[in-house]
Amino acid sequence: MNYQPNISFILDDKIVTIDFSKEKNLKPTTNVLEYLRLFRTKKGIKEGCGQGDCGACTIVLGELDKENGISYKSVNSCLLLLPMMHGKQLITVENLAAKVNNNLILHPVQQAVIDTNSSQCGYCTPGMVMSLFALFKNYKNPSREIIEDALSGNLCRCTGYQPLIKAAQNSCKGQKDSFEENKSQTINLLKEINQKTKTISIYAEDVQYFRSTNLSETLQIRKENPDAILLSGGTDSSYKNISEKLKPLKIIDVSGVEDIQYFTEDENNFYIGSGLNLEKFRSLTTFKIPIFDDILKVFGSLQIKNLATIGGNIGGASPIGDLIPVLFALKAKIKLQSSSKIRIIKIENFIKSYRKTDIKTDEIIESVIIPKSDKNIIKSYKISKRKNLDISTLSGAFNILLDERLFVKEIILAFGGMAEITKRAHKTEDFLLKKRWERNTINKAVEILKNEFKPISDARSDKEFRRIAAGNLLIKFWSETNE
Ligand SMILES: Cc1cc2nc3c(=O)[nH]c(=O)nc-3n(C[C@H](O)[C@H](O)[C@H](O)COP(=O)(O)OP(=O)(O)OC[C@H]3O[C@@H](n4cnc5c(N)ncnc54)[C@H](O)[C@@H]3O)c2cc1C
Ligand code: FES
Ligand code: FES
Repeated sequence: MNYQPNISFILDDKIVTIDFSKEKNLKPTTNVLEYLRLFRTKKGIKEGCGQGDCGACTIVLGELDKENGISYKSVNSCLLLLPMMHGKQLITVENLAAKVNNNLILHPVQQAVIDTNSSQCGYCTPGMVMSLFALFKNYKNPSREIIEDALSGNLCRCTGYQPLIKAAQNSCKGQKDSFEENKSQTINLLKEINQKTKTISIYAEDVQYFRSTNLSETLQIRKENPDAILLSGGTDSSYKNISEKLKPLKIIDVSGVEDIQYFTEDENNFYIGSGLNLEKFRSLTTFKIPIFDDILKVFGSLQIKNLATIGGNIGGASPIGDLIPVLFALKAKIKLQSSSKIRIIKIENFIKSYRKTDIKTDEIIESVIIPKSDKNIIKSYKISKRKNLDISTLSGAFNILLDERLFVKEIILAFGGMAEITKRAHKTEDFLLKKRWERNTINKAVEILKNEFKPISDARSDKEFRRIAAGNLLIKFWSETNE
């Protein structure tokens, strides 16, 4: 394989190349926030939580898209490893104002933040401005719902969101900005980097990092390095988790593998590439598999969804992961691929124990296969302390097929947060099968459900709350399917 030991990206309208073998202070696990503040003295960007929760570190990434343009997305720089910047334009708050005859002209979103008094202490402001900038680049006259979604990953403790929503409404009018004027020059620079790219292999400070854009090469690297950690969006295996791992550490970054970023369908199934980021995935499946839109509306924040992938959600196998119960309800299968073999197994058989899956050391999750089922009613529910940017206390995803007399022909009741892994309530399902879908039956089913799981008490809730809430979700499902 032909490797390169360096990465290149655009910063301040120029190509920056980093050769890790020559940079003493940088390693593949240096995060982008650290790099910008300590090594590029870009102090506009702030650190709050360091784990994706506050948005103070928000930057915007520009990437070549399939239509020969640039797509822009807001991301948390504290979660990104520096080599993940390869081939991208990295935009910080310092880049927004345009220089005209040696004068700085504020970007329309910056001016709107001033005009609407959207800042007090100012700590959150650079992150807020970057989220507004990504909104500006993606929407003309966005609805309130879209604006709220764009700001859902940015916490402000003093100003309140009303002026910021006004700032978004006042500024996102589809007008040209300096990024639009420099677009062709930026596209040329991005092409220059990407056309020359070989597989990246960096070794520095006891960390070995690989990144390829090609699936077969990635599988070969995986075969040769069975002890390596896979990394996709990096929102779960974040910098901190990675740096706590024993050295030497090997990382195979699959976030650049284009062959696993797809969504297709045939007569029987939908096929979702494991590397598709959740925001892209949401936009592609909104009308085709609406249950994903429902759950992704209350999943993390836009910055998280712009990085996180469906493969990472399944690979992490968290008992409170939001997509796994939905995939249970959809009867999804996982396609696992190694350099020599393909295996397709049911999601229920793939999740083995707490955060453990059936993956082999030479495999990656290539895609998720979802059978089409027009007649079934499928719904999902998430209970958390906050609506946005909060992990589940518990969640439920249910699938039912009723006959014409309202008798249950088929039922799946999948729960997250009720056990050490996502689990189906098999006893309750067995009770409900062939029974009439009516309130009396549901009341009895709720009693069975209450004793079917042994949830734990933790910071989010006690076990009794979880038991009662699980029963209430079943009642809610019944009432919504009985309308
Ligand atoms: C602030 C914040 C909010 C969050 N909110 C939510 C939420 O609301 N709901 C929720 O469910 N999760 C949430 N998460 C957790 C996380 O974002 C998701 O689980 C996400 O889908 C992980 O995807 P990723 O691509 O970032 O995975 P990564 O972090 O890259 O990887 C996660 C795991 O999957 C493995 N993996 C990745 N790709 C593959 C592959 N192709 N094949 C095999 N294994 C693979 C990795 O080795 C690792 O073990 C949140 C995280 C943060 C930081
Ligand atoms: S520092 Fe809080 S999200 Fe990055
Ligand atoms: S202006 Fe102070 S935190 Fe937002």
